[in-house]
Amino acid sequence: MTRAHLTGMGFHVPERVVRNADLEKLMDTSDEWIVERTGIRERRFVQPGTGTTDLALEAARRALDDAGRTPRDVEFIVFATITRDQMFPGCGTMLQQALGIGTIGALEVHNACSGFVYAVAAADAFIRAGSYRRILVVGAEIQSTGLNMSTAGRDMAVLFGDGAGAVLLEAGDESRGVLASVLHGDGAHVEDLWAEAPTSKVMGRLTPEMLAEGRMYPRMNGRNVFKHAVTRFPEAIHEALDACGLRLEEVALIVPHQANARISEAVAERLGVPSEKVFQNIERYGNTTAASIPIALAEAKQQGRIRTGDLVVLAAFGAGFAWGASVIRL
Ligand code: UT7
Repeated sequence: MTRAHLTGMGFHVPERVVRNADLEKLMDTSDEWIVERTGIRERRFVQPGTGTTDLALEAARRALDDAGRTPRDVEFIVFATITRDQMFPGCGTMLQQALGIGTIGALEVHNACSGFVYAVAAADAFIRAGSYRRILVVGAEIQSTGLNMSTAGRDMAVLFGDGAGAVLLEAGDESRGVLASVLHGDGAHVEDLWAEAPTSKVMGRLTPEMLAEGRMYPRMNGRNVFKHAVTRFPEAIHEALDACGLRLEEVALIVPHQANARISEAVAERLGVPSEKVFQNIERYGNTTAASIPIALAEAKQQGRIRTGDLVVLAAFGAGFAWGASVIRL
């Protein structure tokens, strides 16, 4: 039986560090409120002119280096983002071009916070089906250019950051690799976390009225998202482990989407695992949507928190609502 082995990880974040104190100058907020409610102390923002594909390129190069591979070894790209460089096409073929890979195909996953888990599941299915042997899976996001940086947008503006992460999945034997993935969604909650515009429902996609009302900015019913997240994360983690007959005690590290430190703490508590078993770096990067899990994975490896042979669980919940989890033997 063929499995998708995770052979390389890499991440890249912009150099510019934006601390909570920097946001205090732009809106009515405080370091104390942000740290207490979210755990975030700083995040990275790009300089004008940088695109999501630029961040992804650097992360992809590092993941390929880590795997001891070159761009020419990649047979397919799965690219998770909700902040592509332009309305269309997606970033996948742009990344292919930037890496100089030739005419390989690319699939874009537009699932927001759960995008990377969906991307891993899709790449794993391609590999197990024998369609491709080596797939570059990327999560990259530039949120900073789409936030309302005034008091009116403070509930969202303080949460997000920019960054990219990537992994290489390679066909291998059944001794390790992606063991199971579970994916779920509930469209009843679309409007609890969304950016309504630009929209195909109106001529011109974005009218002056919509601009004036700020309907292109993301909006969230934070409490409802929080409530669902703390239930769905543990549910998905248990379901994915059950699918491969493994127990939570065998897991070396849970790498969740970084949405809020309080969510991760609540998830650890509900699962009954020590908080050290749930990786956290939101204090330094904020919520980087589809990029948060691959950034966290690559950092966990850099810090020696995960090694070959370890059992790792990825889990995410977010806009859609869409959520899921993957169990991977490294
Ligand atoms: O990755 C996507 C998934 N996203 C999530 O999982 C996020 C889930 N939700 C959350 O993490 C939390 O709901 C938030 C961190 C977004 C908000 O925390 P909260 O404890 O639910 O706060 P709240 O929205 O109920 O707001 C409490 C108060 C309000 O003031 P009043 O009405 O009590 O006077 C807000 O206006 O805090 C106010 N507030 C702020 N104050 C200072 C909201 N944003 C800010 C801010 N600075 N940035």
